[in-house]
Amino acid sequence: MHTDKVFSSDANKHGTMPLPRWAPTTFKLLTQSMVFKDDPEHARLRSLVSRAFTPKLVQSMSDDVDRVVAKYIERISGRAEVDLVEDFAVQVPLEVISRMLGIGGADADQFHQWLKKFADSTTNGPLDLVKALPAARKMRKMFVRLAEDRRSSPDDRLITALVEACDGGDRLDDVEMQAMILLLLLAGHDTTSNLISTATVSLLDNPDQLERLRRDPGLIDTAVEELLRYNSPVPCGAPRFTLDDVEMSGTTLSAGSKVLGMIISANRDESVFPEPNTLDLTRSPNKHLAFAFGPHFCLGSQLARLEGRAALLALVQRFDEIELAVQRSALRFKRTPSLRGFQTVPVRLR
Ligand code: HEM
Repeated sequence: MHTDKVFSSDANKHGTMPLPRWAPTTFKLLTQSMVFKDDPEHARLRSLVSRAFTPKLVQSMSDDVDRVVAKYIERISGRAEVDLVEDFAVQVPLEVISRMLGIGGADADQFHQWLKKFADSTTNGPLDLVKALPAARKMRKMFVRLAEDRRSSPDDRLITALVEACDGGDRLDDVEMQAMILLLLLAGHDTTSNLISTATVSLLDNPDQLERLRRDPGLIDTAVEELLRYNSPVPCGAPRFTLDDVEMSGTTLSAGSKVLGMIISANRDESVFPEPNTLDLTRSPNKHLAFAFGPHFCLGSQLARLEGRAALLALVQRFDEIELAVQRSALRFKRTPSLRGFQTVPVRLR
């Protein structure tokens, strides 16, 4: 369904907007982003952002990622107990994507708070949505200012590259630019944060595999792929809408149906992965779908891998012991259905 054109990503076109019409502009920006578009609009936006978000740019972030990871490892060292989610897993991707975009200095802290309020509000009830309105408004104003600033004084970061991205004379307009920045921020931090925290819990659940990684850090590449498969941070992609009646495994989905492709299920498919419920850090081949496939394939997969590898390796190399500070059964997944990650992971580190 991620490649079949009968499944459309355009919620707006099908009158089934994921947000109500009265929703504020910043929230609507999300539905205007390329995740919720079909070709040719999707291809156009993807081509423009791909000119800015290049593999070369991601690779150039490698030192930055290591520096950010080292900073937060230092902060959690020596503390009796930390929340692996809030004190580490959230901070690393947030700082990396902010640096990448060029949001720094005085803007960064303020912006992190707004983003947190905004992201939380999209997963909780309507009351939180209303409470997050001022933060959402200020955040959008910041995007407008940042784009204007980068137009007049370019730097070597992503917003400048987005401002300059040009495809045969075509450019992102102002709303598209704001939608793209918001998409990169939201897609780029909570997902990777959940990878770091759930992967750590998966390793604690499988001490033999944790030990294996400690003994042989060279396993980190296959380890991250397996951890992405085993506990996928994005359980399903964005909803798709059927443009026509579709027959699937003997069931007819009528035109206009909303369909979710369950990545977590595909990643435990026993016809593809031998012993799918076993965590095997050396698994190869490992054709998991954690980053989906087709035209909407995750734009940030290489960045996410870079961050996942650096963060997990630093954790297992810096601490000889990582121990849950609560019963395993007390860990709770966040309530949002579109992301899979723990609310908190209290740990003791030695
Ligand atoms: C472990 C971390 C991540 C996972 C598991 C993940 C997963 C995914 C998945 C499954 C999709 C496809 C959604 C669909 O088809 O409906 C997607 C799309 C996307 N991801 Fe990621 N992602 C991660 C990290 C990132 C990062 C770090 C960035 C950017 C900084 C990013 C940017 C995007 C964007 C822009 C799209 C939309 C692509 C499009 O519509 O063409 N992701 N991601």
